[in-house]
Amino acid sequence: MAGRVQDKVTVITGGASGIGEGMVRRFCAEGGRVLLADVDADAGQRVADECDARFVHLDVSSESGWGALETLISCDYGRLDILLNNAGIVAEKSILEIDLDTWNRLLSINLTGVMLGCRSAVRLMRNNAGGSGGSIVNTASTTSYLAIPDVAYTTSKAGVVGLTKSVAVQCATEGLNIRVNSIHPGATLTNILKTALDATPTLAKSFNRMSPMGRMGRVEEVAAMALFLASDEASFCTGGQFPVEGGTVSEHPRMG
Ligand SMILES: NC(=O)c1ccc[n+]([C@@H]2O[C@H](COP(=O)([O-])OP(=O)(O)OC[C@H]3O[C@@H](n4cnc5c(N)ncnc54)[C@H](O)[C@@H]3O)[C@@H](O)[C@H]2O)c1
Repeated sequence: MAGRVQDKVTVITGGASGIGEGMVRRFCAEGGRVLLADVDADAGQRVADECDARFVHLDVSSESGWGALETLISCDYGRLDILLNNAGIVAEKSILEIDLDTWNRLLSINLTGVMLGCRSAVRLMRNNAGGSGGSIVNTASTTSYLAIPDVAYTTSKAGVVGLTKSVAVQCATEGLNIRVNSIHPGATLTNILKTALDATPTLAKSFNRMSPMGRMGRVEEVAAMALFLASDEASFCTGGQFPVEGGTVSEHPRMG
């Protein structure tokens, strides 16, 4: 039986770990021709080998890196159907602690990297044989709406919302049939959180309490939302923000 993204040429950034790894596994299982793009060659190659994906080394903050990936995709596949701009880092520095190098590095990955990815994807997707078209899904966060002290991270994830809407509206008004949406995970059990939990096990209670459902998210749940938006089932969805957070952004602050 054909998968939900059968034969679609798909790039997933940050696919070597966590949410991105979950996306790679799900999109491969659904028939996608997946390119896993990451800076971590060891983990990336391992995940790619396990899922029958293709690992490509990419630093998403590198303009020339995206240029090289565009060339590779044009030569080897002749089209791009789906881009999941998922790679991201945290800085864990407040406004009183942040230095300019840390700020610039985080924004170059979490925001400029997403812009560069969108630009490359639109360039490729508008020239797809059979007609312009495709789907871009940008991984933002609940911190797009609810601030945390990590000032660079919060700013980057708010920025991804504006970027997503701008690209979505441009593509739609030009009639390109390229849809662009953002997904907003809440606390999801990946390496970022596992490291914090290993250091401070009592944090688990706090992470669970962040959602009215009383638990953290699973990477498979985030991947499922990305899959819906990437697939043709979401044909009238563009410029939208899609939370995957057990109700976190719907809840009024609790008493006590
Ligand atoms: N885990 C959460 O609770 C959570 C919540 C909301 C949003 N997010 C977002 O989800 C995305 C994935 O996070 P995760 O929790 O899976 O993290 P993770 O650390 O497990 O995975 C991030 C991946 O991105 C890669 N990466 C880092 N810098 C890169 C670069 N410059 N170029 C290419 N790849 C790079 C890493 O090598 C790694 O494979 C991020 O954008 C993050 O902000 C995570």
